[in-house]
Amino acid sequence: MELNVHLGKPATFEGDAVIVGVFSDGDLTPPAEAIDSLSGGALSRLRGGAFRAALGDVLPLPLTGAGAPLALVLGLGARAGFGYAQAKKAAALAARRAQKMRLGRVGIVASGAPDPLAPQDAMEAALLGAAIGAYRFDRYQQEKGEGPTSISLICGRPEGEGAAHAAHKSASAIAAGVATARDLINTPPNEKTPEKLVAAVLAMAEAEGLDCRVIDRQELTKMGAGGILAVGRGSAHPPAIVVLRHDGGEGPWHGYLGKGMTFDSGGLDLKTAGGMLWMKSDMSGAAAVAGAMQAIHRLQLAGRFIAVLSIAENMTGADAYRPSDVLKMLSGTTVEVSNTDAEGRLVLADGMEILQREKVADITDLATLTGAIVIALGSHRAGLFSNDDRHAEAIAAAGERAGERYWRMPLDPEHKEALKSPTADIKSTGGREGGASMAAEFVHHFAGDTPWVHLDIAGTAFTEESGSLGHGATGFGVETLVRFAQRG
Ligand code: BES
Ligand code: ZN
Ligand code: ZN
Repeated sequence: MELNVHLGKPATFEGDAVIVGVFSDGDLTPPAEAIDSLSGGALSRLRGGAFRAALGDVLPLPLTGAGAPLALVLGLGARAGFGYAQAKKAAALAARRAQKMRLGRVGIVASGAPDPLAPQDAMEAALLGAAIGAYRFDRYQQEKGEGPTSISLICGRPEGEGAAHAAHKSASAIAAGVATARDLINTPPNEKTPEKLVAAVLAMAEAEGLDCRVIDRQELTKMGAGGILAVGRGSAHPPAIVVLRHDGGEGPWHGYLGKGMTFDSGGLDLKTAGGMLWMKSDMSGAAAVAGAMQAIHRLQLAGRFIAVLSIAENMTGADAYRPSDVLKMLSGTTVEVSNTDAEGRLVLADGMEILQREKVADITDLATLTGAIVIALGSHRAGLFSNDDRHAEAIAAAGERAGERYWRMPLDPEHKEALKSPTADIKSTGGREGGASMAAEFVHHFAGDTPWVHLDIAGTAFTEESGSLGHGATGFGVETLVRFAQRG
């Protein structure tokens, strides 16, 4: 999909349809007024009646005398409370509709956003949202969809040109990163075994000119990365760690870390059939980190970022690790395995140690870590855990900017207590209660005092609904990590 900028009034856009937003209250914005007259006044006649302009409502209207034969009038809801997240969601829904209608070349207008949404942010939300909504994953289908082939940001005000180009640049890079993450997550597990996932990340890095190093099983063994090695032992496909670097000049390195379980069967503590259904998405943290690094590098952002992807498959083969095994982790800590389905924290622990050795200033990890966070927060908000209020606030602010929602969750000494083991330094689980905090506390052990944020994205990484994102991977977290890197 191509993303463009079209300079000129909506009527000058030559394509299949123009998307123009309309609020449910107040006057029409100037571009909406233009569409109203091009539709012979149909918009103003229908608005408030058959068309209420609730957020995401779409009203197709034929146009005469315009470069495009059709407008998709897009409901934006009430002006109050309209922000970046609402703009992005509405644009995504409009693009989904354009896809269903098999419209090829689509334009979108983003001017007239009410305060406090800045004009450039509105443009980014429109273009990025539309790109995200028009995404589809049809690699394994013989019949391909026919959705939008290009989306153009329409900018009719000369003074907005600079902002339009800046928005186009930023939205294009982030859209590419989000699509990379979603493609990787949607790929079936037989097609993304650890070797194949590593190869896919390498190919992306090579295409982008992003520095990439692979630590294979042999090297992990030499290093003593007992956590990820144990998790990968039940699989015919050896684990690996991928390290990506973006060096945007001076300053400290920031660490990103992602859980990359290409499939989580649970291991010997086998999941139920239902529990296994979405476990190809158990590498969503690693996918989001890879997608974010792609965007950060494309944008040539200032700042230094090192990303670690801990990649393995949790299976039940003859050499699978067992409950009661004691592992020596890369950091030297010994861990008694209490449940082989709590594998994410083990691969994160070894990845974390690699970042610690790089002396990063802070670490942000993303992981589909616990079912407990899904129960606690549902599927629209991810859990945020941290040992450092400043870093927590920086990531929360980035999430806010990205329109991705987080909720701060506790880390308590009682969880640390529950992870005490009679046999090893610590054990890997401590009971069902407070499961998301318990898992976070385990990861905390390896973060130590380094400012660290853990984002448990188990509930937000994929969706079974067909809302603004459609079915499957959401790419949740990519934009948060890019916005964190973009902060001035
Ligand atoms: N990958 C799962 C967590 C998960 C669950 C992700 C549902 C997405 C949707 C993780 O490895 C896991 O199995 N966690 C266990 C931990 C338990 C054994 C302490 C869980 O949450 O049940
Ligand atoms: Zn598991
Ligand atoms: Zn898992």
